[in-house]
Amino acid sequence: MYTQEHYVLSPDRVLTDEEAKLVWRKPKSHKASEEEERICKEIIRNWNRGEMKIANILLEGDAGSGKTQLAKALSANFRLPYTKVTCFADMDKSDVVGAILPVISSERVAELSQSDQKLLHVLYESDGFQSTTEILQEAFGFSKEQASIQMKQLLNRLAEQHRDNEVVEYRFYPSEIVRAYQHGYLLEIQEPTVIRDAAVLMALNSALELDGSINLPTEVITRHPDFIAVITTNRNYTGTRPLNESLRDRIQHSEKMDLPSREVMVERAIAKIGFEDRKVLNLLADTIILLDKTARVNAIKGVAGMRSFFYWADSVAGGASAKESLYHKVIYKITTDPDEIAILEQALQHQGLDAKLDELDHPETLQGNAKKKDHLKQ
Ligand SMILES: Nc1ncnc2c1ncn2[C@@H]1O[C@H](COP(=O)(O)OP(=O)(O)OP(=O)(O)O)[C@@H](O)[C@H]1O
Ligand SMILES: [Mg+2]
Repeated sequence: MYTQEHYVLSPDRVLTDEEAKLVWRKPKSHKASEEEERICKEIIRNWNRGEMKIANILLEGDAGSGKTQLAKALSANFRLPYTKVTCFADMDKSDVVGAILPVISSERVAELSQSDQKLLHVLYESDGFQSTTEILQEAFGFSKEQASIQMKQLLNRLAEQHRDNEVVEYRFYPSEIVRAYQHGYLLEIQEPTVIRDAAVLMALNSALELDGSINLPTEVITRHPDFIAVITTNRNYTGTRPLNESLRDRIQHSEKMDLPSREVMVERAIAKIGFEDRKVLNLLADTIILLDKTARVNAIKGVAGMRSFFYWADSVAGGASAKESLYHKVIYKITTDPDEIAILEQALQHQGLDAKLDELDHPETLQGNAKKKDHLKQ
């Protein structure tokens, strides 16, 4: 067994305060998984082996199986700052490399609309450590998509108002990807499967080359030796295409992340909600596993995963009826279609789980029934 300290990749590297804050700290509830140990050993083993280095990882599988937490655990083990990009359909190249923004004089700013003035104000005030979208997200509470759209529209308006003989300075705001790439962070790239623009995928591809570089308007930057990219994606989840082939080809280690085994599910639930009744947790985990399987086999789109399990178990731990909360925490999350619900219910009855859940809710009735039977026998 390796201890966590064995995994630090660059022991001599000194992180800035900002960077040190980005290194994930494992909460007490974290349970290291087989996948975590395997990836760590693989990366360590090949770290100084030049072209054989492993630094692009793919975690593909079920929602809630622990992909993001695994990426964060790698940040903790390797002592690398953790950052992430959440991909979206309309991502464009400036979301990959970054945005250039003209720095215009205060008189010109004053001629703009109030809302544009506000946008420019926060952008100019920032220390250049964050991407433009992040700055706008934080300052105005925009979503990533909104921030990206606002940014593009602002740039268009500024370009339209540009006067021919005007001398403008430009300032470059690197994207999250560029920042991680240049400074050697662990970057989680969430769901790149949704990206529509081929040029964006190409830009991502070249960023994943081990000896790659990214051409910025201001300079060419090379990949920091500590940069690790972890792509996380759901398999067969509606609305996503399969992962782009050439992106897939640049992966040096992949893990298939499914709903964990019953034992792991129970261990994580105990750690997370502090409810320790293994008998109950086993029953709830069995139910989730069966529902997950049944939904899949019957092409029911919803998911019965770890998140449903935690919330259901927590509800039961708090005294709720297992059977009733099953509907609100698990089944209706999968589907509200009556035919599909019937399929799920039948599966539970067929495996005897339905009766066991009833028994959990009404132990007295069953004991009562048993006593009645005994009485009748006598
Ligand atoms: N190793 C672990 N130990 C304890 N709890 C874990 C572990 N991995 C994941 N979890 C818990 O399981 C839940 C889901 O994990 P996570 O968000 O990492 O899943 P995911 O695969 O990234 O999901 P999604 O596909 O929705 O992005 C979280 O509440 C997380 O804390
Ligand atoms: Mg995730």
